Amino acid sequence: MRTGPGAVKRRALQSSASDLVECRPLGTEGWWPGLVTPKAAGVDLVGWAQTSRDHVAALLARHKALLFRGFDRQSADQLSDFVAATSDNSLLDYKDRTTPREALGKKLYTSTSYPADRRIELHNEGTYWRRWPLKLYFACGVAAESGGETPLANVARVLDRLSPQTVARFEEAGFTLVRRFNDGFGLPWQEVFQTEDRAEVEAFCRENAIAFEWGEDDRLATRQTRPAIRRHPASGERVWFNHAAFFHVSAYAGPDRDALEAELGSDRMPYATTFGDGSEIPVAVVEEVLAAYHAEERRFPWEAGDILLVDNMSVAHGRQPYTGERRTLVAMAEPHDG
Ligand SMILES: [Fe+2]
Repeated sequence: MRTGPGAVKRRALQSSASDLVECRPLGTEGWWPGLVTPKAAGVDLVGWAQTSRDHVAALLARHKALLFRGFDRQSADQLSDFVAATSDNSLLDYKDRTTPREALGKKLYTSTSYPADRRIELHNEGTYWRRWPLKLYFACGVAAESGGETPLANVARVLDRLSPQTVARFEEAGFTLVRRFNDGFGLPWQEVFQTEDRAEVEAFCRENAIAFEWGEDDRLATRQTRPAIRRHPASGERVWFNHAAFFHVSAYAGPDRDALEAELGSDRMPYATTFGDGSEIPVAVVEEVLAAYHAEERRFPWEAGDILLVDNMSVAHGRQPYTGERRTLVAMAEPHDG
C-alpha cells in the first residue's frame, strides 16, 4: 500500500472512478458479465480507465468479464489506448493460429474471418499454446445485421457441471491436439506459423513443447499435450481450460465433416483431439462437455462502440452465425506461461 501525498491522490482518483461509472451484472440468473456504463454523458472511457486501473481490476476479478457500453464510440486507436490503460500492455501475436485473421498493426486483429453462417463453439484462447493471454479484448466497430453475438461461459461453472469420471480422466491425462497441415484442408503451416522457413517452424515447436513430423509434399503434423484443467493464477479457482471438445473430430460442423472424413479418413483430419495419453475421447464425453458449455452460455447483442474485456482463463467465448457486415477488433494481452 502506498502512503504519502500520492496515496491521497490515488484514493481521490479511485473514488471518482466509481462516481463516474456503474457496474451491474448484465443478466439475472447465475453468472453474467458485468455491464459497465457511464453515470452521465461525456465520460471518456480511456481517460477514466487510465485513472481507475485498480477499480477496473477489482471489477474484472469480481465479474470475470466486463462489457463497457454507452461511452463515446470507440475507434481502433482508442482500443489500443484502452488496452494500455487496463493491462500490463504486453500484447500477444496470433502465432499457431487456427483461423485466418487480419493484422491491423499494434497487435490488433480483426476477429476471425471464419464463414459468417457458422457458429464458433465456446473456447478459451490459446489453451494449447505454452503461453496464452490472461486478458482478451473485443471492440465492436460494426454490429452485424442479425446474430454475431460473442457467447460467453464461465468455465469454473462448466467444470462443475461435468461428471466426476470425466473430470478425473481429463485431470489425469490432459488432452492432445493433433494438427495436420498442407494436406489440402485447413490453413497451410506457412500461415499458421507466419513463416516459409521450416527451421523457424521447428524452433517455434521446440520452444513451445510441440512435437512435429514433416511428411511428403510439404506436409506437417504436430502434436501438443496440455493439462485440461488449470488453476486461475490470481483466484486459484479450478477452471476447465482446453480445446478437447472444440477440435474433436465429432465437433466439426455438419456436412463438411462427413465429406472430409469420407475423403481423408478419421486419422487424417486437419484437427483432432485425444486424451493426453493418446487414447480416444469418446463422442459421449465430447457431447457431455459441449452440453456443459451450452448450459452456461450467456449471450447479448453487440452495439457499435462496445468494448468487452474478458478474463480468458475464467470465461470462454465463441461466435454466433450472422448476416450483414460485422467488424470486431480483437487484442490479447498479459501473456501467461503454463
Ligand atoms: Fe477465440
